Amino acid sequence: MQAKSSFDAHPVLVQVRDYRHIRVEPLTGVLGAEIFDVDLRQPLAPESWQEIKQAFADHQVILFPKQSLTHEQHVAFSRNFGEVIRVPQLHSVDGHPDVQIIRRLASDTGRVVGENWHADSTYLDEPPGAVVMRAVDVPPYGGDTGFLSMYAAYEALSDAFKAMIAPLNVVHSATRIFGSAYLAQGRKYSSASAKTDLDVAAGDREVVHPLVCTHALSGRKFLYLNKTYTQRLEGFTNEESAPLLAHLHDHCARFDFTCRARWHNDQVLVWDNRCTMHRAIPDYAGQNRYMSRVTIAGPRPAR
Ligand code: SIN
Repeated sequence: MQAKSSFDAHPVLVQVRDYRHIRVEPLTGVLGAEIFDVDLRQPLAPESWQEIKQAFADHQVILFPKQSLTHEQHVAFSRNFGEVIRVPQLHSVDGHPDVQIIRRLASDTGRVVGENWHADSTYLDEPPGAVVMRAVDVPPYGGDTGFLSMYAAYEALSDAFKAMIAPLNVVHSATRIFGSAYLAQGRKYSSASAKTDLDVAAGDREVVHPLVCTHALSGRKFLYLNKTYTQRLEGFTNEESAPLLAHLHDHCARFDFTCRARWHNDQVLVWDNRCTMHRAIPDYAGQNRYMSRVTIAGPRPAR
């Protein structure tokens, strides 16, 4: 029977499989899993990689505790997931251009990078497919990252709502991150956390992606919008788009679609940047937090 309230539509739970070469412990029933019994410093045995790939497809966000990787090993492990690319707004580690930095200094008071629910760089024609992030130096507590399954968010919509939004497209741009809307804001990123001299016209460039996409690997549908880069529905005015987008942003932020990654130094985490969103939690003021990340190319999002 059709649910009368959205809150009666519970998320579809992840199937937990039996693994022979790795140990997988889900973080929640919807997304996120910790993976044990693998050493990411070494090239992966094919059977372990097959199981990691399966766990990644199922759980969308995978964490590997206690992996003390060099920058070279970080990049080498990341290459299992696809072609390595760079996002324009982040600094790189000296001598390792593919390893980019998410850093907040104890003295920073400006904006925290990624403080709204978002997927990375959806303003690009081909946004990243995945990100492999490593905790280099994190506070003893605070500074977790929230993750959210956009499969779960889509699947919890009513059939009538799914049919209504199926043909819609969304306009994305980085105007609020490094375009003219960013320049108009008072609260800025510190130059240690993000580049502040980016091309404003590139920030304002608009790209259109479907609101509902299909994952090339899993074949599952997911919602594709976020508060950081979404501007409006294609063909609609800002005002016409606002109520539907606000409803979807609220719907997507439901706690039962989420998990939370607690960071420890040397933890490596991979998120699928198509079917998930993430959010940096700014609860560690006065402490340093230093993460390094490698970005993996993705296909153009498609219905
Ligand atoms: C990001 O949005 O890429 C940063 C996430 C984090 O720092 O936890």
